[in-house]
Amino acid sequence: MKFNAMFQPIEIGPMTVKNRFVVPPMGNNFANTDGTMSEQSAAYYRERAKGGFGLITIEATVVHKGAKGGPRKPCLYDDSTIESFRKVIDGCHAEGAKVSIQLQNAGPEGNAKNAGAPITAATSIPSVCGRDIPKQLTTEEVYELIKGYGEAARRAMEAGADAVEIHMAHGYLVSTFLSPRTNKRVDEFGGCFENRMRFSRLIIEEG
Ligand SMILES: Cc1cc2nc3c(=O)[nH]c(=O)nc-3n(C[C@H](O)[C@H](O)[C@H](O)COP(=O)(O)O)c2cc1C
Repeated sequence: MKFNAMFQPIEIGPMTVKNRFVVPPMGNNFANTDGTMSEQSAAYYRERAKGGFGLITIEATVVHKGAKGGPRKPCLYDDSTIESFRKVIDGCHAEGAKVSIQLQNAGPEGNAKNAGAPITAATSIPSVCGRDIPKQLTTEEVYELIKGYGEAARRAMEAGADAVEIHMAHGYLVSTFLSPRTNKRVDEFGGCFENRMRFSRLIIEEG
């Protein structure tokens, strides 16, 4: 039979996943407006685990207060939401799946009105979707955000997650540092390739 490997276990770091079927992160707006996971979130993810997926990635989860892109986005910038994630993860584990959480800061794709804070980016260049002009992060703020990723990863582990994934694409915050089109910074986070990669590298090291 073709694709035999799809049904074989795979080791990813310290984690053994029972097969190669992975649910990618997909926002579903089932989270509660206070950033906790809802009963509906738990039922949704457990159903995917029941279906046989080896690894389930929980949708884009907000890493920093003030960076919430929508009213029903799950959040991990505060300890108060950990318990609700644990319920989701326990349900998936009970069906034999491993769980990863995608950590996200929406950056210029965010929603200032919803988050109660200005949207931010590497440089004050709006996203291609033509939203508001984001505020350029100061160097100090960039280092604070890096710490926030580490704290959110710690909360994910406390909730029982097997892994985290950092959202670095789709025009959200990290990707604004990677591209010379959206990164015109003159500090250590802008300019040459190594500098533009520094934010993502330090986030990974912090986790
Ligand atoms: C409803 C919906 C929500 C999504 N939410 C996210 C998300 O939270 N994070 C992300 O990185 N991608 C998100 N995506 C993109 C999917 O993860 C992406 O389509 C998938 O990785 C591509 O797989 P495919 O080629 O099998 O479609 C979303 C896609 C859909 C359809």
